Amino acid sequence: MRKPFIAANWKMNKTVSETGEFLKEFIPVVKDVAAVEIVMAPPFTSLMTAAKSIKGTNIRLASQNVFYEEKGAFTGEISPAMLVDCGCTYVIVGHSERRQYFKETDEIINKKIRASKKNGLGVVFCVGESLEDRESGKTFDILNREIENGLKDTAADNIVVAYEPIWAIGTGRTAAPEQAQEAHAYIRDRISVLYGNKADEFRIIYGGSVTPENVDSLMACSDVDGALVGGASLKVESFTRIVKFKKG
Ligand code: PGA
Repeated sequence: MRKPFIAANWKMNKTVSETGEFLKEFIPVVKDVAAVEIVMAPPFTSLMTAAKSIKGTNIRLASQNVFYEEKGAFTGEISPAMLVDCGCTYVIVGHSERRQYFKETDEIINKKIRASKKNGLGVVFCVGESLEDRESGKTFDILNREIENGLKDTAADNIVVAYEPIWAIGTGRTAAPEQAQEAHAYIRDRISVLYGNKADEFRIIYGGSVTPENVDSLMACSDVDGALVGGASLKVESFTRIVKFKKG
């Protein structure tokens, strides 16, 4: 059985006090949700305050980024050990915004995944094709390349794969459940090539304009094990409804 994994990716949103206000409201309304792993990824500046608020609750903390070196002269960067020290359980790696705006390559992403796992962090590893790739029939080639390169020389444990078609992120244009299921089944197949029968245990979550309106139909897909939620995670009401998705 794969426990559903629902994560909020706040991106560059919310101050420390806004984070505190959100969690004060959110924690009590989801406290009885035992069947779903709930994860919050606020900006770096809010990690400490979030860690304090969620202590002893059913919510886990994730960072949106990490650097792969242990320590040293890397101005502006944060190491995996620092994130563990802040109370993070997970880190998001390979998000398309990092690939696009910060020029992160598959090789950098692989280093980040390996360094994170070495320090005991779980990894939410994002993959996904652009609209151009999809329209030219390259979706599976892209997914295959990102998975093979990103997961090179990594053990199977503690990895959640997030399928995030770039054309669906922040656009309001969600993948249809059939499109999501097709991509997720393909990803699971690729993972089985890398990790054998462990592929059945892998959680593969969907990201890209997930909302209270579409979460139930996405979660009804047999290979969709959760969601990575951007815009709709910024409001307590909408994120709560997503966390409390209804099983079809
Ligand atoms: P979105 O973002 O839900 O706003 O589309 C998802 C993501 O980028 O993780």
